[in-house]
Amino acid sequence: MEAVVSEDLVKIYEGGVKALDSVSLSVKSGIVFSLLGRNGAGKTTFLRIMATQLLPTSGRGYVLGHDIVSEAGKIREKIAVIPQESRPMYILTVKEHVKYFLMMRGLPMNEASQRSSRIIRDLGLEEYSNMLCMKLSGGLRRKVLVAMAMATEAEILFLDEPTTGLDPLSRRLVWDVIQRASMSGQTIFLTTHYMDEAEKISNEIAIIHSGRLLASGTLEELKKLTPYKLKAEIPSDSIRIEELSEYGRVLKLGRRIIVYMADEESSRKLHDYCISMRTPVTFSPLSLEDLFIKLVGENEYS
Ligand SMILES: Nc1ncnc2c1ncn2[C@@H]1O[C@H](COP(=O)(O)OP(=O)(O)OP(=O)(O)O)[C@@H](O)[C@H]1O
Ligand SMILES: [Mg+2]
Repeated sequence: MEAVVSEDLVKIYEGGVKALDSVSLSVKSGIVFSLLGRNGAGKTTFLRIMATQLLPTSGRGYVLGHDIVSEAGKIREKIAVIPQESRPMYILTVKEHVKYFLMMRGLPMNEASQRSSRIIRDLGLEEYSNMLCMKLSGGLRRKVLVAMAMATEAEILFLDEPTTGLDPLSRRLVWDVIQRASMSGQTIFLTTHYMDEAEKISNEIAIIHSGRLLASGTLEELKKLTPYKLKAEIPSDSIRIEELSEYGRVLKLGRRIIVYMADEESSRKLHDYCISMRTPVTFSPLSLEDLFIKLVGENEYS
């Protein structure tokens, strides 16, 4: 069963910005799905359309089989959303915030109270439980929103940059909560700029660029989109870039040169060449970040 499906989804904002250009995407039920893309790529637009907060210009979308335009009400009963720009209500405490939100969604007070205590503990918010949201730091406010959405136990969670602004330990607590939700059958659709996050917690990943879908699939499937397995990084002021193309695909990124290589033979040769030129070089296997930079960035930086 597909949890989220879009077919040729187009969004043109007033003023003519084409934020989505015929995006066809499909997300299986029960998985963690990460949508990646540069600032302005169209992630929030896509998420908001599928979460029935925004209408598409054309194309179709289905969430749990319901049409995003004609059956928005049915979808809203089954989803929870963390918007990108959003803050908790300042006049409520953390616990009240989560509890009242659950009660507004129809949960009895007892259950709402138990669930909010549980998520507050899971996200390491216990010491702030009775603190007014207005007194919280930015990251903690973000965590309150994460707590609210995750406590709903909704069938699908749309999380727009859920961990932006969170410290490394907090991010890991959020990852745990997300992965537990997925193990219990919920579908999590999230956007993120953290490649390590996408790599660690998602079952599938999509990359969007200027409103167009560049790639979608498991990490292994995405890695197969490029013949390259290894990369080398070299400071750009220490070598002539033309000398490097025989070793692989060369990309200049700021003051670094990156060489993507398909096999170890090429990396050995590049290694020997750099030693002979007394040039510092570091080698590493291709990560999601490399793939992202290669797919999205090469047209803009090369
Ligand atoms: N309300 C709006 N009116 C007009 N243009 C908009 C509106 N919202 C977004 N856009 C434009 O649509 C494009 C996609 O924006 P969107 O917010 O979906 O990107 P994003 O991938 O979420 O970026 P970020 O990583 O910065 O959050 C951008 O060019 C943006 O300027
Ligand atoms: Mg966004």
